[in-house]
Amino acid sequence: MSAALNEGLKLAARPSGLPKASDWSHFEEPVAAPRDGEVVVKVLYLSLDPAMRGWMNEGKSYIKPVAIGEVMRAGGVGKVVESKHPKLEAGNYVTGMLGVQDYAVLNGDGLHKVDPKVAPLPVYLSTLGMPGMTAYFGLLDIGKPKPGETVVVSAASGAVGSLVGQIAKIKGCRVVGIAGGPEKCKYVVEELGFDAAIDYKLEVVKDGLKQHCPNGIDIYFDNVGGDILDACLSRLAMHARIVICGAISQYATGAPVKGPSNYLSLLVNRASMTGMVVFDNAARYGEAAREMAGWMKEGRLKSKEDIVAGGITAFPEKLLMLFKGENFGKLVLKVADE
Ligand SMILES: NC(=O)c1ccc[n+]([C@@H]2O[C@H](COP(=O)([O-])OP(=O)(O)OC[C@H]3O[C@@H](n4cnc5c(N)ncnc54)[C@H](OP(=O)(O)O)[C@@H]3O)[C@@H](O)[C@H]2O)c1
Repeated sequence: MSAALNEGLKLAARPSGLPKASDWSHFEEPVAAPRDGEVVVKVLYLSLDPAMRGWMNEGKSYIKPVAIGEVMRAGGVGKVVESKHPKLEAGNYVTGMLGVQDYAVLNGDGLHKVDPKVAPLPVYLSTLGMPGMTAYFGLLDIGKPKPGETVVVSAASGAVGSLVGQIAKIKGCRVVGIAGGPEKCKYVVEELGFDAAIDYKLEVVKDGLKQHCPNGIDIYFDNVGGDILDACLSRLAMHARIVICGAISQYATGAPVKGPSNYLSLLVNRASMTGMVVFDNAARYGEAAREMAGWMKEGRLKSKEDIVAGGITAFPEKLLMLFKGENFGKLVLKVADE
């Protein structure tokens, strides 16, 4: 193993707006020998996440920023090729924060074993991974859906949004998705069973909400922030809940985040707006994954992965797909064959 080369990307500079080529530095070095408690993992798939853009910023957040010169943080799934950890052995498949590199040498305590017989490996970065946990806990614990309520979700065809809408349907809600483009809108209605979709690139969102949410919005699951959040605020039902999951429209503008101007709608409607961070629910991931795997098996929950090729060197370009709406489902970078 020690002869193998590890290729990867480190953060070279803090970007302004969307990351550019000079914000990354490429490295190639021999794979380090694992110490006691450590394992060597061959990275097979990496999760590409909008949050990565935030991790590149300096300043206080829910997680430490990636330092300049540090391997770029990334969740991934891989295969253990060498182990000095008592509970892991070569051949095990694992998920964890593997980083943008071909081989990760890290403490085995932070890894979770996964079974490719239960679900294909990329699904552990999707429905049975971080986006799935985000949708599940964000909607159920913060949104608290009740049968008959109207749920609106933005980035509706994406990793988190597509699951939020489907879980809301399972819970007996009426679901309206907001997505960019006719293909994505058709998909969420015809394939995922949403009741309606609004194409924010073609339609006036406020008009679409008026048409599809005649009694107002009970839960708005916000993935995008900006003008769409404002439009949803203007259509709240009494005691509505807004789940602040993300604000992708604001992550890479290079300008200060634009806050909602319609926030007094919270007062008028005795509504609430609550932020969520998926990692707070780590102790309950198993419970959520079991329930979602069950729904998948019953055909009630569809998991869609958009797997892009190119390996580690394609990471900078593929990450940008998220900010251009070019992904269709959970964006996953294939790094290597097993
Ligand atoms: N709080 C947490 O713990 C947590 C955890 C995971 C994810 N998140 C957040 O959840 C959100 C969705 O993440 P994801 O991984 O599921 O990504 P995703 O929805 O699979 O991909 C991002 C999508 O965002 C939409 N988008 C991009 N720019 C936009 C803009 N300017 N205005 C409106 N929509 C835009 C695009 O869809 P269209 O083509 O439809 O525009 C794009 O496909 C992100 O905000 C992310 O940060 C939060």
